[in-house]
Amino acid sequence: MKLDAIGIIGYGNMGRALAHGLLRKHKDQTIGILSRNIDGVAHAARSKRLVVHKTLEALVAASKIVVIAIKPQDIPALLDQLRPLARHKWFISVAAGLTTKWFSEQLASPQVVRFMPNLAAKTGMSLVGLSPGQEVEAGFTAQALELASAIGTPALIPEKLMAGLTGLSGSGIAYVFQFVHALAQAGVREGFPYQVALGHALSTMEGAVSLLRESGEHPVALVSKVTSPSGTTIEGIKVLEAAGFTNIVMEAVSASSKRAAELER
Ligand SMILES: NC(=O)c1ccc[n+]([C@@H]2O[C@H](COP(=O)([O-])OP(=O)(O)OC[C@H]3O[C@@H](n4cnc5c(N)ncnc54)[C@H](OP(=O)(O)O)[C@@H]3O)[C@@H](O)[C@H]2O)c1
Repeated sequence: MKLDAIGIIGYGNMGRALAHGLLRKHKDQTIGILSRNIDGVAHAARSKRLVVHKTLEALVAASKIVVIAIKPQDIPALLDQLRPLARHKWFISVAAGLTTKWFSEQLASPQVVRFMPNLAAKTGMSLVGLSPGQEVEAGFTAQALELASAIGTPALIPEKLMAGLTGLSGSGIAYVFQFVHALAQAGVREGFPYQVALGHALSTMEGAVSLLRESGEHPVALVSKVTSPSGTTIEGIKVLEAAGFTNIVMEAVSASSKRAAELER
């Protein structure tokens, strides 16, 4: 699908991931960017298809879709400047905790779609939860889905589940990092150097993910395929369950989701 002109405000982790994902996937597209980050802008200037704008007015004038990729605390000041420029524009926010309703009120425009990506946007492998505001034009939702697919896998979700998705995926990716590190440390305990153990932990995780995806089997069915009677795996499962593994993961996601809901406005 061909995308309308895109301008990205903020060229940090997310802005850069989006810009580069779009450059990879849409070979004819130029992307407008605006940032306070001097190093980032200097870096961007090296790509012919990234157009660095000097003012907000210039970026908005050149764009149909305006992506807001700055920290939540910087957003109110930006929206004051954006409000008079918002007519006929489509807005995407990747900011954690700011609802489409809040954005729409601040911009005096209903054309707002909210994204919840995670850090894997940097490699184009993020889950991207996506909630269009209630009055968003159908054409905008279609383009937002296409744009999200430049940084990973889009999933339309009701906005009331955004806080839950923050726990599961936005923050959840950190729990996966923790688990991989724990597995690598366990490998060190068994005698592998850390880097080797980390590589083996990652390969194991990649294998598990590919098996789950390709077989379509339930995770529990696969666990039982690995646990032979009186074997090695069931000994480890017993230790995990005695320590409340499932419960602790659920509690971690729940704590993060609860915090996301508290911060939401
Ligand atoms: N990082 C993640 O894993 C992640 C995941 C999900 C959602 N998000 C959301 O994505 C958004 C961006 O996060 P990030 O990690 O990409 O932040 P970041 O790395 O700090 O990038 C934001 C960039 O925007 C610049 N900036 C701030 N205000 C600006 C303005 N008015 N005009 C132009 N540029 C401006 C900042 O410049 P300065 O350096 O001068 O401040 C910075 O370079 C946040 O709202 C966050 O909630 C992030």
